[in-house]
Amino acid sequence: MISSNTNINKIRNNQNGLQDDLLTELADIYMTPLYVYDGDKILENFYAFQKAVSMLDCKIHFAVKANSSIAILYLLGKAGSGADIVSGGELQRALAANIKASDIIFSGVGKTDEELLLAMQHSIGQINVESGPELERLSDLASSNNLKCSVALRVNVDVDPGSHVKISTGQNSTKFGISINDGQAENYYQKITLHPNLVPAGLAVHIGSQIRKLAPFEKAYKALLNFSNHLRSKGFDVPCLDLGGGVGVDYETNMSPDFFDYGALVNRLFANQGYRLGFEPGRSIVANSGNLITKVIYVKQGYDKRFIIVDAAMNDFIRPTLYDAYHKIDSLRPRGDFKDIADIVGPICETGDYLAKERLMPLVKAGDYLAVRSAGAYGAVMMSNYNTRPEASEVLYHNGEAHLVRKRRTVEDLIKMDTNPFV
Ligand SMILES: Cc1ncc(COP(=O)(O)O)c(C=O)c1O
Repeated sequence: MISSNTNINKIRNNQNGLQDDLLTELADIYMTPLYVYDGDKILENFYAFQKAVSMLDCKIHFAVKANSSIAILYLLGKAGSGADIVSGGELQRALAANIKASDIIFSGVGKTDEELLLAMQHSIGQINVESGPELERLSDLASSNNLKCSVALRVNVDVDPGSHVKISTGQNSTKFGISINDGQAENYYQKITLHPNLVPAGLAVHIGSQIRKLAPFEKAYKALLNFSNHLRSKGFDVPCLDLGGGVGVDYETNMSPDFFDYGALVNRLFANQGYRLGFEPGRSIVANSGNLITKVIYVKQGYDKRFIIVDAAMNDFIRPTLYDAYHKIDSLRPRGDFKDIADIVGPICETGDYLAKERLMPLVKAGDYLAVRSAGAYGAVMMSNYNTRPEASEVLYHNGEAHLVRKRRTVEDLIKMDTNPFV
């Protein structure tokens, strides 16, 4: 950890987050590849979201899947956030970060018996059930273990979010939620209300991630509202509507998202409807807080283009190859005005191992650092050890101090997990 002797003035002067000098300093200290997060920016984004929906009776549950650093969860929890989780592991992370169990919501299509039991034993705030078989398992486990829990139904409203296909969850063709069009959802909601151990919590919807337009949200929320009002008209208790996450960010400018229009939409649709609301933002809170710092290993002149070969690879940051995601990449060491096209690639033995393709890049040399911008969401959480590569470390900068919040494992740590039964 480096602390207050870091040159704070340098950072305070920079309105767009951590300044490049500090990123260079941190990369020297902690080695690359290195994620560096700006905790102040995370809180700024969280408070901006909170302000945009402040006229409504609501609670924000940060989507842990976007960034599950316990230090970040702790900061967000202290700022008033709950947690939206999708596994027993994330449940334990949220609890380790001091987030109250009652402020935790459990989503996901494949919760195991162990995970459902763990959630009920901790009396978490709400379980969002996504299928009939899951409701049956939950009911049986609750009865046989004499446990109670609040249950919402995640519904599928069949809306295309207009995002990348791999992060679109709103259509009936996806595995998510229970359709509201064929009577299933109503039937299951009734089962919840009749079960002595289950408390009906309401409905949930999440149509996808990186949604840059309001129209899909409006369509989905109107369908949700119609359905919940229908349930109420039949006498069911529907106290809460969980509106999911999904607000997109601008990866071109890396500016903090403006939640104003989203808040205005939600207010227009839900004010005075008598529902308590829940939100599950992930990406929009953490994306632009993060830089992935990587070091140039070689610059290779190929047949018709330059390859900048760096020490961060698809195992550290899979978004470009998995989602065709664009991330701005800057050199932290300017070397004049020269610019030409280059692919920025990692050392992994796959053609898909790249951080950027056909990118206009300045002159860089071996040893220079590059910063992959807006890498704070769905970055470190998706790291793997492919090619037996230890993952990047993670540093959190907050209140003028930088803290190592996750140390990279060593190759010995990785090898230790294997056993060889033949020697
Ligand atoms: C159920 C659920 N809620 C919330 C989120 C967070 O979405 P985002 O990071 O786009 O805000 C996700 C992620 O896709 C999700 O699956």
